[in-house]
Amino acid sequence: MSRAQNRVAILHGVNFDVLERRDPELYGGLSLAELEHRITGWSHDLGLQPSFFQTNSEAEFCGYLHRLSEGADGALINAGAWTHYSRAIGDAFAVDPVPAIEVHLSDVDSREDWRRVSVFEGQVVGKVVGKGIDGYRDALAMMADKLGTAGA
Ligand code: DQA
Repeated sequence: MSRAQNRVAILHGVNFDVLERRDPELYGGLSLAELEHRITGWSHDLGLQPSFFQTNSEAEFCGYLHRLSEGADGALINAGAWTHYSRAIGDAFAVDPVPAIEVHLSDVDSREDWRRVSVFEGQVVGKVVGKGIDGYRDALAMMADKLGTAGA
C-alpha cells in the first residue's frame, strides 16, 4: 500500500526565532514555539503531519530546499524578508519543489513597496497574507485540499 501523502514542511526564515520580540501589531507577539504548537493542532485536525524548520542562515535554508521532497509532500513557506530579495532561495526552491503555499503574518501588499515582490512568484500554488496566525490555518486547509487529506 502506498504511503499517505500528508507530510507538510513548515518553513520559517530569518528572524522567526525571535518572533515574540518583533512588532506585535504586525506579527502577533507570540513565539515561534507557540505558533508551531497551533500549527500542529490544526494540521492533525486536517489529517496532515507537520514538520518544522527555521534558520537565520540563507545557506541552510537553501540546503533544506534542495532536499525538500525527501521529507515533505507539501510545504508552507514564510521566508520572512528573504522572500522579497533572495533570488538564491527562489532558485533553491526550484531544485526539488513540492506544492507550496507562501504565508505571511502581515499584509505584505499594503506595507512598503519592496515587500510586494516575492521570489516564489509563479512557483507556489497559493499565498495567504495579512491574516496573522489564522493565515496558517487557512493555508493548511488549502494544502489538505491539495493533498486530499481533509476528512481522510
Ligand atoms: C513576514 C513579512 C516580511 O516582509 C518580513 O520581512 C517578515 C515577516 C510576515 O510574516 O509578515 O520577516 O514574512
